[in-house]
Amino acid sequence: MTKLENFLPAQYETTGVLPINHNYLTEQFADRDEILAKIREVVVRGDFTLGRAVDEFEAQYAELTQTKHAIGVGSGTDALFLSLKAIGVKDGDEVITTPYTFYATVGAIVTAGARPVFVDVQDDYNIDPGRIESAITPRTRAIMPVHWSGKPCRMHEIMEIAQRRGLEVVEDSCHGIKATLDGKAAGSFGISGCFSMHPLKNLNVWGDGGVAVTNSDEFARKMRLLRNHGLMNRDQCAVFAYNSRLDTVQAVVASHLLKKIDHITEARIANATYFDAALGGIPQVTVPVRDANIRQVFHIYCIRVERRDELQAFLVKHGVDAKVHYPIPMHLQPAAAPYGYKRGDFPKAEAICDSVLSLPVHEFITRDQQDRVIDLVRRFYA
Ligand SMILES: Cc1ncc(COP(=O)(O)O)c(C=O)c1O
Repeated sequence: MTKLENFLPAQYETTGVLPINHNYLTEQFADRDEILAKIREVVVRGDFTLGRAVDEFEAQYAELTQTKHAIGVGSGTDALFLSLKAIGVKDGDEVITTPYTFYATVGAIVTAGARPVFVDVQDDYNIDPGRIESAITPRTRAIMPVHWSGKPCRMHEIMEIAQRRGLEVVEDSCHGIKATLDGKAAGSFGISGCFSMHPLKNLNVWGDGGVAVTNSDEFARKMRLLRNHGLMNRDQCAVFAYNSRLDTVQAVVASHLLKKIDHITEARIANATYFDAALGGIPQVTVPVRDANIRQVFHIYCIRVERRDELQAFLVKHGVDAKVHYPIPMHLQPAAAPYGYKRGDFPKAEAICDSVLSLPVHEFITRDQQDRVIDLVRRFYA
């Protein structure tokens, strides 16, 4: 066994030096004094756990997603995990999801006691609804679609299958704040929509934070219990549960950023559109699939390219923080060994992992920087 190091600080240091970067936190929190002043109010009040700022944030988030309830929790992962617990997932159940996602999607399923059952993706990186039914068994309890990079999945079809087969849908909308399908918010289709506020998400706090939204009063009640030790009040516990409350300090940061989320979203969309137009003309590059009825919010801008590893090295050498999200699909991770999957099981996801490359697309990237990236990609293939 190799020793486990905390690799995060080193990761920030090595990629943080590239001039065209995925990391934009210094610019984003240039107005930190305003936030610190509001945090000062929390410190003076002392309502550190589920304080007033959490209630205020939840009300705003429910409005943003046009849902009845928003429940702030410790992270996006916890929003997923607690949602599965709230719908009653237990040992031996199965949850259908995509092999092309971040580890947390599958981690939430497994830690809730269920078996992850993978279904291959489409060319737009999202789960293929046409393949879901053949993966359903008598043990299937839920479907967990992931709105990858902030593009909503084909939710009408997924909801139709789920309703017909008696399954719940827990949406991994961790990339999907402000994304819509036919005008309806990503995260508002299933029993639960789960969002992350990790520092590199479109709405990002100063550490970890997450939120689940729902239109079900009963589901919201269970989530509120589960995140706070199962407590009905100070002296009565309805169910022995967890401690995963959205931190009050983080709720202050999140509410501050909610005021900017329209601008953040529009800027990302504009930058992605600019990349699409220029990179779409390069034969070795495939830009993201677009649909007219979808607002895609580009938490990440993923293109697919030939000779990906060489292009990535070339871009990094020239100061562009080109990243791979992610090189190994979930079914081929060491952690997935107990489930018996093998290479070739999900050819689309595997091909995507072999060819995908993310370019910085956040609101602080300038047109000049985008032109530089485009020029470098053209030079590489020339
Ligand atoms: C698709 C997806 N799901 C879940 C998560 C988990 O979110 P968090 O980091 O807030 O736990 C992430 C975050 O990175 C993610 O990208």
